[in-house]
Amino acid sequence: MPYAVDSPRVVNISDLRRLAERRLPRAVFDYIDGGADAELTLRENCRVYDDVILRPRNAVAIPECDLHVTVLGRRLELPFLLAPVGSSRMFYPRGEEAAARAAGAAGTAYILSTLSGCRLEDVKAASIGPVWYQLYLVGGREVAGATIERARLAGFSALAVTIDTAVSGLRERDVRNGTKELLGPSTWARLPFLPQFLARPRWLAGFLSDGGLMSFPNVVIPGQGPMPYADVAAALEQSTVSWADLRWIRDVWRGPIVIKGVLTGDDARRAIDEGAEALVVSNHGGRQLDGVSATLRALPEVVGAANGRAEVLLDGGIRRGSDVAKALCLGARAVLCGRAYAYGLGAGGGPGVARAIQILRADLVRTLKLVGCASAGELDRSYVEVPAAWLQYK
Ligand code: GLV
Repeated sequence: MPYAVDSPRVVNISDLRRLAERRLPRAVFDYIDGGADAELTLRENCRVYDDVILRPRNAVAIPECDLHVTVLGRRLELPFLLAPVGSSRMFYPRGEEAAARAAGAAGTAYILSTLSGCRLEDVKAASIGPVWYQLYLVGGREVAGATIERARLAGFSALAVTIDTAVSGLRERDVRNGTKELLGPSTWARLPFLPQFLARPRWLAGFLSDGGLMSFPNVVIPGQGPMPYADVAAALEQSTVSWADLRWIRDVWRGPIVIKGVLTGDDARRAIDEGAEALVVSNHGGRQLDGVSATLRALPEVVGAANGRAEVLLDGGIRRGSDVAKALCLGARAVLCGRAYAYGLGAGGGPGVARAIQILRADLVRTLKLVGCASAGELDRSYVEVPAAWLQYK
């Protein structure tokens, strides 16, 4: 059922994207691939890497490159983690477990989305590496409190709280693909959108063998059980997190908190004052407020504001190892890759995720050798030329 993902069929992340598009029904592929409104930020997240020019040091021989970084006190063998991606079980049977397993095998961390189809205990058990839990307050505090307790008992090492979902962004592709109708009560309304699934027999066979439509087993409603699968837009409507909620979350969790969705120096300072140990510069992969800054561009402002008081990570637009290197040069301690591995999962399951990781790792080693830097931890601003406007905020 999965597509083969080896070379030369798959040379880069775009090849994985193309295969994912071929294997997945339109509604599922577009859920991964799409963004909000006009998708300006979605595109800009990727394009902005072109604005950073590398400044190599040549004639430097580097036989071995050291890619390791330390994030929240834990050594990772790669300077990238796998980002939380909702509904991964729709991309491939037991998708979250497959992705976590591949991350652990590569020596890096996996972040499990609240809106996932596999039980958090199973996802933790699938990986030999660290696993973080991404928290939305879907279902309210009582539900979240129980999940946080489960995550602690299962051995999750950090809680990543996403703060950019006051409401869901308008993902126009999802509307056109009938996501709402497909999940609604009316068979008539659903009918026109069904052919896209029948056109993807490889995916359909996997989907049915995996039990059909997933639920949200980590959002357990008291007296009812796991929340039934819902349109993610509807779930995000109930996911708003305020700073007051964050104080409550901190008291309940008592472990490291990562705030995901920081784009300005002001929010960075606020998050740190509220107890964040790490920040993720993120615009939710261009899926929430369209027209905000690309994350790479916002990074210097956030790094400046954090001023060493919190670790700064970044997500958005990473498709090549050189993108990872550029973000590290601008002060990110590590980055989160979302779509890059989600395409791999959609195309080829666990081996597809492993292939995405392998591509980014090989790219990164090559980039480090070509810029003349022996380790990921040594990349700094001196290896890049950056537009002056990016550095104007203090
Ligand atoms: C979930 O967080 C999504 O962006 O779809």
